Amino acid sequence: MIRIERLQKSFTDGAARVDVLRGVSLQVEEGELVAVMGASGSGKSTLLHVIGGLDRAYQGTAQVLGHDLAQLSDGDLARFRNESVGFVFQGFNLVAPLNVLQNVLLPGYFSRRDEEGPEEERARRALERVGLAGKEGRLPAQLSGGERQRVALARALFGRPRLLLADEPTGSLDPATAAEVIALLRELGESEALTVLLVTHDDRVAAVADRILHLRDGLLAEEQAQQGTQRQDDLRTADRSRATMAQPAVEANASQGASEEMSEGSSQAASAGRGGAAR
Ligand SMILES: Nc1ncnc2c1ncn2[C@@H]1O[C@H](COP(=O)(O)OP(=O)(O)OP(=O)(O)O)[C@@H](O)[C@H]1O
Ligand SMILES: [Mg+2]
Repeated sequence: MIRIERLQKSFTDGAARVDVLRGVSLQVEEGELVAVMGASGSGKSTLLHVIGGLDRAYQGTAQVLGHDLAQLSDGDLARFRNESVGFVFQGFNLVAPLNVLQNVLLPGYFSRRDEEGPEEERARRALERVGLAGKEGRLPAQLSGGERQRVALARALFGRPRLLLADEPTGSLDPATAAEVIALLRELGESEALTVLLVTHDDRVAAVADRILHLRDGLLAEEQAQQGTQRQDDLRTADRSRATMAQPAVEANASQGASEEMSEGSSQAASAGRGGAAR
């Protein structure tokens, strides 16, 4: 399903180069639910963007759903995103003037061929599944943070993707709702062979994953499935202290915090829920 080998990704920031991913390798099989953890700035979103075909400026190999992403034309990459991948972005990326239902329908607007009726019915069902029945007509501004997050999830699931890439999909949810959302993702993994790669800072969310991967110093390490070793406790403690920013290898004199959130709202905004509208 996902085969990443020696993935390297750097950002240039003026004269400085920040090596965010320094040789990441990763394999995810169909139907797996894999959690990626790591300190703020460690490159989790960057990794998701490469896997989802939103960022092709990398070195190494990224094979997803049988495609070598580097080999796809821009059009084929857009089709890959639209047809196979569901995104839940860290900033949700809901479209402000559209109501909840329209936001969920948006990816279908760009790519789908069904009649309007079944589309809308499916969007309503997706909203029901995330507990938002009755809020279809609200605008994003009239929702709580957790509700917006669930709209983003409904939108990502609406097109029945084979792969869901979710960047902190439960970050704004209370523990009970977070548990429901994760249970839903698990269920979809079993019933529809949905593969899920999710970024989380929450140990409870990570605990229900099949595997937990830790991104640190530009590399991925897999946590052993068996609980209770000192090493895991150390890792968990390290992850909890989010306030300490990760220190990726910086060459030359990086000026602090130059463009942290730069990618938010640029390439991402162009791609609501499912991949870009580049077609
Ligand atoms: N477009 C960009 N230009 C320059 N630097 C960038 C860009 N996008 C990300 N970075 C830098 O790359 C590093 C990794 O960023 P990334 O967004 O992947 O972190 P993250 O692990 O998702 O963090 P968080 O948990 O805070 O979301 C950070 O140091 C960030 O400043
Ligand atoms: Mg991030």
